[in-house]
Amino acid sequence: MTVDLAVAWLGIQMDNPLINASGVMCRTVEELEALRHSAAGALITKSCTLEPRKGNPEPRYASTALGSINSMGLPNAGYRYYLDYARRYDHEHDKPLLMSVSGMSLEDNLEMMAAFDEAALPVLVELNLSCPNLPGKPQIGYDFEASARLLAEVSKVYRRPFGVKLPPYFDPVHFGEMADVLDGCPSIGFVTCINSIGNGLVIDLERESVVIRPKDGLGGIGGDYVLPTALANVREFARRLPGRHVIGCGGIRSGREAFMHILAGATVVQVGTCLYEEGPACLTRIRDELVCLMQDKGYRTLADFRGCLRTL
Ligand code: SIN
Repeated sequence: MTVDLAVAWLGIQMDNPLINASGVMCRTVEELEALRHSAAGALITKSCTLEPRKGNPEPRYASTALGSINSMGLPNAGYRYYLDYARRYDHEHDKPLLMSVSGMSLEDNLEMMAAFDEAALPVLVELNLSCPNLPGKPQIGYDFEASARLLAEVSKVYRRPFGVKLPPYFDPVHFGEMADVLDGCPSIGFVTCINSIGNGLVIDLERESVVIRPKDGLGGIGGDYVLPTALANVREFARRLPGRHVIGCGGIRSGREAFMHILAGATVVQVGTCLYEEGPACLTRIRDELVCLMQDKGYRTLADFRGCLRTL
């Protein structure tokens, strides 16, 4: 049976639903070009700030038996670098390009979003409300009023649909509060669920030590640990925001988890820890595994099972 993984959403057309998670393999032009030549259906740039940032001190990423912990601290080349890449990108013939923005303040976000607006490029912008790795700076996605204010201001300077990357929520009341904020912002075209689970602590038993340097070892947790939380967030936001798209992110390392995210309601999915660990070849593998799984189950397109998760 022929399976078609193509997906069209918010004016972009993807051959398959796989994207890198922002932060993985997307900080430099060289990395972005490797992704462009990979099996990914689209690519997204590293969350950018107004000015370039070195990020947090090393070691700031560690792989663990069940995934990863990181406290990168938004190392990036500054938004002009990524905007320049986007300006030179062949949007007509290449896979779609998404761009992640993560200002250190409201003013920074407005300046960058205004610049993206003025550039008028056919990219989708993902505004990151959820970096957990900036010492002294809470994740704005956990402050519903501040998020609403930010989105209202951004909508004034950026006049096209955009998305937000959310932190994980753990309580139905909080799903509801954030869904209300997003529902109140007509510019929101998509939400990405989830960023890493912030401020976990991984301990090396032998060395009786933390495994990363920043924040005395606290960092964002990704990989297998986060899959159930990611799926819950995807399902809850897909249910609560009909008409908007959800990008599923968290714990995808084979076609099976990609399928689960889409079954929970994701339009497309992002791969983080697995891409970091295995490199771009994993995207070919995950894509092919998803095709096999769909064939086994008798599904021809993603729409045949998207959001069809059964309850008991
Ligand atoms: C980082 O650069 O610290 C990771 C980005 C993020 O989690 O949003």
